[in-house]
Amino acid sequence: MASTWNALILLIILSILLQQTKHAGSIGVNYGLNGDNLPNPATVVQLFNSHGIQKLRLFAPNLQVQQALEGTNINVSLGVANDDLANLAGSQAAANEWVKTNILPFSKTHYQYVTVGNEAIPGPNSQQVAPAMRNIKTALNSAGLSQITVTTVLANTALSFSFPPSQGAFSAEATPAITAVLQFLNEQEEPNRVLMVNVYPYFAFAADPQHVTLEYAQFTAPGTVVNDHGLEYQNLFDAMVDAFYAAMENVGVGSVRIAVSETGWPNGGQSGITSPVLAETYNQKLIDHVKNSGTPKKPSYFMDVFIFAMFNENQKTPGVEQCFGLFYPSGQPVYSVSFN
Ligand SMILES: *[C@@H]1O[C@H](CO)[C@@H](O)[C@H](O)[C@H]1NC(C)=O
Repeated sequence: MASTWNALILLIILSILLQQTKHAGSIGVNYGLNGDNLPNPATVVQLFNSHGIQKLRLFAPNLQVQQALEGTNINVSLGVANDDLANLAGSQAAANEWVKTNILPFSKTHYQYVTVGNEAIPGPNSQQVAPAMRNIKTALNSAGLSQITVTTVLANTALSFSFPPSQGAFSAEATPAITAVLQFLNEQEEPNRVLMVNVYPYFAFAADPQHVTLEYAQFTAPGTVVNDHGLEYQNLFDAMVDAFYAAMENVGVGSVRIAVSETGWPNGGQSGITSPVLAETYNQKLIDHVKNSGTPKKPSYFMDVFIFAMFNENQKTPGVEQCFGLFYPSGQPVYSVSFN
């Protein structure tokens, strides 16, 4: 009897240890504000809560939205605007001020990430990203907020190669600024060593439907589509993420993890390949996938993923860009997705 109990206790301890080696990711949604008919922030926050959406990404500080988030359990990712990078990179005092203005007043909100620059590399502000990240991190640390992860957001255009995934490489233009970012991230303690990337199988499929199948882009392929040196890819999302891991390894960085700052599928705007049904399929399968598995390269790391976006936004570029919303501005779902 005693030995049965011992074995049982050992099993429980083992399973707890196994659990801990896994990083449980969770799903969030991007809250874009480029619409003149969107509900007020308090209503939007209610919508997040009533649909069980536990994380929210905001592209830049916004007093009203941040006030509406006070006292909720929603984990927030807050962006530093690209226009502020030069100032923040050049001055610790400016970074201290940014934190004082945009984080400290909201002491009843759980800020999980600060994203310094959005798709700023490559670009005119490339070289300012890493120094701005350092200054913001220093400012957060001195304010007693060292648990907040400071990162930046890369677009797929930062890669010059993404296929096959093992050949992933940053472009020559992007490499110096990304190397500086990765050096900073490498110095951070876990769980703060995270790079954010935007991953859109939709655009890869729309650009090359001859070679990319809808099933591969939508997590509906019945089996392996790409076998890359023994790593088996059944969906394009994983392949695109793993290309970023390979690109990091190519510049000598193996320990920085990835979170997906944007992914999604338009519910309209391009006939034949966009519809509420297709968007529902992509987003629901995405949620089910990332909650239960990592990528072939990092099978035990379940990523944080932010879906783009909460609303159809009528002030974005006409076409698909206006149609990424899970919800209409009325608050009605465009299609139904379960976050649980
Ligand atoms: C919220 O953020 C903290 C870290 O800051 C993390 O431990 C927790 O898992 C997050 N929760 C969700 C739902 O993302």
